[in-house]
This record gives sequence, structure tokens and C-alpha cells, in this order.
Amino acid sequence: MRADNKFSSTAPCHSCARAAKFCCLPYPLALNLLAPVNKRAKILCVVGARPNLMKIAPVLRALSASESLEARLIHTGQHYDDAMDGQFFRALGIRQPDLNLEVGSASHAVQTAEIMKRFEPVVDAENPQAVLVVGDVNSTIACAMVASKKGVKVIHVEAGLRSFDRAMPEEINRVLTDQISDLLFTTEPEALSNLVREGIEAGRVHYVGNVMIDTLLDNLKRAVPAAATLAAQVGGALDAYGVITLHRPSTVDDRDILTSVLDALCMISQRLPLVFPVHPRTRARIQEFDLLDRIARSKIKLIAPLGYLEMLGLTRDAKCVLTDSGGLQEETTALGVPCITLRENTERPITITEGTNTLVGRDSAKILAAFDDIVANGGKRGRIPAMWDGRAADRIAAVLVKEFAGAVT
Ligand code: UD1
Repeated sequence: MRADNKFSSTAPCHSCARAAKFCCLPYPLALNLLAPVNKRAKILCVVGARPNLMKIAPVLRALSASESLEARLIHTGQHYDDAMDGQFFRALGIRQPDLNLEVGSASHAVQTAEIMKRFEPVVDAENPQAVLVVGDVNSTIACAMVASKKGVKVIHVEAGLRSFDRAMPEEINRVLTDQISDLLFTTEPEALSNLVREGIEAGRVHYVGNVMIDTLLDNLKRAVPAAATLAAQVGGALDAYGVITLHRPSTVDDRDILTSVLDALCMISQRLPLVFPVHPRTRARIQEFDLLDRIARSKIKLIAPLGYLEMLGLTRDAKCVLTDSGGLQEETTALGVPCITLRENTERPITITEGTNTLVGRDSAKILAAFDDIVANGGKRGRIPAMWDGRAADRIAAVLVKEFAGAVT
């Protein structure tokens, strides 16, 4: 048993130099000190919230396939429900985290601070060559900041996306994470211009494609058919349907905005039934603002958050998607499904210029007009952006192998 090793070992701790059984680090961190020394560059990969999981799955696989890199998976516990977290590990075959920091939900400041507080001793104990973060959630900036101040290299996957809207918490997380990252991997060409404008050397930026699309392409054949999901969730098949997702604070936390957006969606649902897997934040607001009755009178079907393979099948077969999500704008582009984005801006402009996305904001008339266009003309067809080909994680691993060759002696 590894636990016995800790308590019977006399090996010194890197951090406090005491014998491991008396060392400064809590179990199970100290166990790591007893792991056999190897010559591979250790990279701590961080996940925290649902959208991180689709991004880390191919990265972990690609890093694990390399003989010169060792990936460790640290979960901050920002998302914790089976519906928001556990089922994605199972569906995507992600191995269990080496450690879960179990921070849970809190205000932005408390959540970010708590992640930093709990991540710092992990970096001390693990002594990695780099910390790899994905996306733009609070876990991303919190762990990047800890690593950077300790002189550990920061790798940011999905760097350089900008909505230019500093009212979005994710925009703050993106800008700050990129500023302190040593290696930046981008999903679309415009990201490089954004980074260079902010003073980041182009030499540190690598355009590799989109790891979220790696996961999508890898799982398309395993997607649960929409008919099966609809039978299980709404009690029967629908000839045609649309999908709604809403969770951004700017859409759901304001009573007037949420009411007006839902009113437009209720009207659309009279012409095309809409299936709405509801994020926990959104469900809480719908209840708080007493909006359940008007949804019940419409043809919007509220269901629990779906697993990855169910959501993929439902999206693939939908007539259109109405969303404020970042990831779904990209997934609909990859699937060729028209997407109406209920936001005033997007950090993913390639989904508009090349893909199937139309940005309409939250004005009812514009939402309805975009829907009319899909009914009349079938919506945007788009094309798949360059390097959204399922190989982004392999490109990342290739850069990291080169970067860290000889880093461990
Ligand atoms: C976070 C990310 C956002 C991402 C989204 C995907 C930040 C700033 N935001 O927003 O970028 O698109 O995740 O879901 O990091 N809750 C549960 N169960 C869970 C997780 C959350 O019930 O497993 C509830 C909690 O009541 C919580 C609320 O959902 O208060 C919101 O969770 P939070 O982690 O604050 O952020 P998200 O809105 O999910």
C-alpha cells in the first residue's frame, strides 16, 4: 500500500527536508515524494469546470503517449455534481484525477482564492516543469497565477480569444492568464493578433487547432442518437427540434434580460419545439424570477444537464441551437448546425466568419428575425476552420516534447 510507504519511509521531503512520515505536506501529497524518480518532464494539467473536461481529454491522451512527458491531473472541484462533472469523466474516458482540491462553489474572489490556497502546496510537492491550464474559468487563472509566481512555466490551451467585454468574468480570466503564460496554444488565427497587441511575443504562440473539436470528432460515432435522448428526457421523439443552452451570468442573472430572452424563445418554440438542458445556475434563476409558469405554457422542454454523448447527439440532429455558450458556438460550426448566439459579442469570431454562427444579442426582435432566416433559408452552412481536424492535442504534445526535451536531468 502506498499509504504504508509514506509512514514507513525515511526519504526526505523536497519541501521541508523532514522524513516523509513527518513532513509538512498533507497525505496524499507526501506520497508523491516517494514516487520513483524518472527523467520525464512533469506537467500538472488542471481542470475545474465542465467545459475544461472536453478540452483536457485529448491533451491527456497525447501527453501520456509521449515518453518524455508525464501528465498529472489536478481537479480543483469548481464543478462537483455528477451531472456537471462525474459523468463527463466516464463518457470521455478521462482517468480519475490524481488529486481533487474540492473547492466547490463560492463568489469569484473566494473561489479563486481558495483554489490558489489549495493549489500552492500541490505545486510545492509535485515540483513540476509546467502547469497546463485550459479555457477561461476561475480555475484557469487561479492555477496559472500560483505557477507563475513560483517560477513554474504556464501553458495555456485556448489562448488569445477575446470578446473585448471586460464585464464577462471569463474575459478577465483570459487576458490575465495569457499575460502570465509562457506557451500559448491558439484555436483560430485572430488569437495571435490579439496576443501580439497585448505585448505577447509571437514566438511563444502556437496555432494548433481546437482540442474541443478533437474530442467532438473522436466521439461522433459514439454519440447517443437524439431519438433515444428525447425518449428518455421528454417522453417521445420529435420530428424536428432546436436546442437551447443558457448559463452566463450576463444572460441569466438579470430578471429583465432573462425574461425577455425566454419570451422570445417561448415564441420560437410554438414553431419549433425547443429542448433546454438547464445549467444549475439558470435553473436557480428561473425559479427565483418565477418564470416556470410561462415556460410550462410554451413548447420549451426543460431537462437536466446532459452527458457529453447525449448532448453531442442532440446537437448534431438539431435544426438549430440557441445559446450563450462559447463551446457550443464551436461545436455547431464543426457539425454544420446553424447557431444563434444570444450575446452581444463573441470571443470566437471564426465561428461567424467561417462557421454557422450568427450573433444576435438579447433583443427579442433580432432573435426572432435570425430564427425566421433559418426557417426560410436553412441557416448558415459554413465551413470547418483550418486545423479543426482532430489533431490539435497531438500538435500541442509535439511542441511540449521539443520545449521540455532535456528539462529534467
Ligand atoms: C463556469 C465558468 C464558465 C463556464 C461554465 C460552464 C467561471 C468564471 N465560469 O460558470 O466560464 O462556461 O462554468 O458550466 O469559472 N453548480 C452546481 N453544481 C456544479 C457546479 C455548479 O449546482 O457542479 C451551481 C452552483 O450553485 C453555482 C452555480 O452552479 O453557484 C454556478 O457555478 P460556478 O462554478 O460559479 O460557475 P458557472 O456559472 O458554472
